[in-house]
Amino acid sequence: MNFENLQKTDPTCYDFVMDEMERQETSLELIPSECIASLSTIEALGSPFTNKYSEWYANKRYYGWNEVVDKVELLAIERAKQAFPWVAHANVQAYSGSPANLAVYNAICDAWETIMWLSLSQWGHLTHGHPVSATSKFFNAVQYWLNKEWYIDLEEVESLALKHKPKVIVVWFTAYSREFPFKEFARIAEKVWAYLLADISHISGLVISGVHTSPSPYCDVIMTTTHKTLKWPRGAIIMTTEKGLQKDPDLAKKIDKSVFPWLQWGPHNHQTLAIAVALWEALQPEFKEMNQAIVQNSRCLANELINSWFEIATWGTDNHLILMSVWKWRGVFMQEALDTAWITLNKNTVPNDPCTPFNPSGIRMWTPIMTMRGMRETEMKKVASWMLRVAEIVKDFEYLEDKEMRKARLGEFYKFIESNNELHAIRAEVKELCLQFPIYK
Ligand SMILES: Cc1ncc(COP(=O)(O)O)c(C=O)c1O
Repeated sequence: MNFENLQKTDPTCYDFVMDEMERQETSLELIPSECIASLSTIEALGSPFTNKYSEWYANKRYYGWNEVVDKVELLAIERAKQAFPWVAHANVQAYSGSPANLAVYNAICDAWETIMWLSLSQWGHLTHGHPVSATSKFFNAVQYWLNKEWYIDLEEVESLALKHKPKVIVVWFTAYSREFPFKEFARIAEKVWAYLLADISHISGLVISGVHTSPSPYCDVIMTTTHKTLKWPRGAIIMTTEKGLQKDPDLAKKIDKSVFPWLQWGPHNHQTLAIAVALWEALQPEFKEMNQAIVQNSRCLANELINSWFEIATWGTDNHLILMSVWKWRGVFMQEALDTAWITLNKNTVPNDPCTPFNPSGIRMWTPIMTMRGMRETEMKKVASWMLRVAEIVKDFEYLEDKEMRKARLGEFYKFIESNNELHAIRAEVKELCLQFPIYK
């Protein structure tokens, strides 16, 4: 990638770009949500479409000279419908996943109607009614939970739905490593006349590729961010299915109005162009092969971790994601120590976690970036062995209940990992591996 203009006009910001590229090229990125946008989508993002204002939708803009922008938006919509069969309508203007979810709720619900979603502590998402999110100001949220085996507790979902009669039930999880049970949720939603919203931001790449069941025949509305497994630029697509239109023939129109003008104004046309480009890429056979490899890598990594005695949620994975309990050593210690070794992932609560989200008992990881770089089974085995070595290094750092003692112990821990030779040795091995699998260079 060439940034020569940036280098001339603003060397400080140019250096930031170089530093970030260097970091991404030389470290292992396992944070679920992060992916690699293709060079074509990056070029589209940097195109002069960013200059144009085009409020409203294709063929009915308020300002003039939107003929080309209209073509871009209509193409993105057409390709979205190709990528997700049974989708009757797509809105590609939402700036990102959070506003997209709010727009869907606003389109379907009146103030204070009930939405039902997975508890945040069990990997739901703030934007579905959590008290810190704007959604909680407008809608009443009821939470469902996982069962003891860390699977969705469908019996509980059904009894809660019968009790609370929600207007919307949301199927979505941010750390669930098994198939999303769309069909079962649809049965429950139909019983109580609820709308079924699938937020497939984490799995949409797998869905397009056919390596995960599609929500289209079962759900009324589908929302996906366009980053995460889609490896696209940031943004969101809100899709109304045939089923959704049967329930309410005006549903798609309501969603469009909710995105614009209720929540947003001028669409980000450069983003829409990049989404159109990325959708074309996702319709190619290589995208499917990549997603198959992502799941194979995830299974391989999960097996290796289990063989190294780690406890994995549900003892395996059907998708690209792994949630691992690190009871004895706490998620925060593993995350920080792995960071020092340049393996980036995030601490995460595990079901029935006695600790808080800031000091949880697990870590969460996924395989898309490693797979897109070309890494396969041999490399997954290496990653598992590095995790085991890091776990050995941090094993004596127990979580302390007392806040002051905990703070002091954390201070000691940071000093310890910064000067730990074994972590530095792993860091060198990680760098060596990464340089064999370049991202952009
Ligand atoms: C499942 C899911 N939906 C929505 C969002 C919000 O998306 P954004 O960060 O684009 O606002 C996230 C991001 O974490 C997510 O994981």
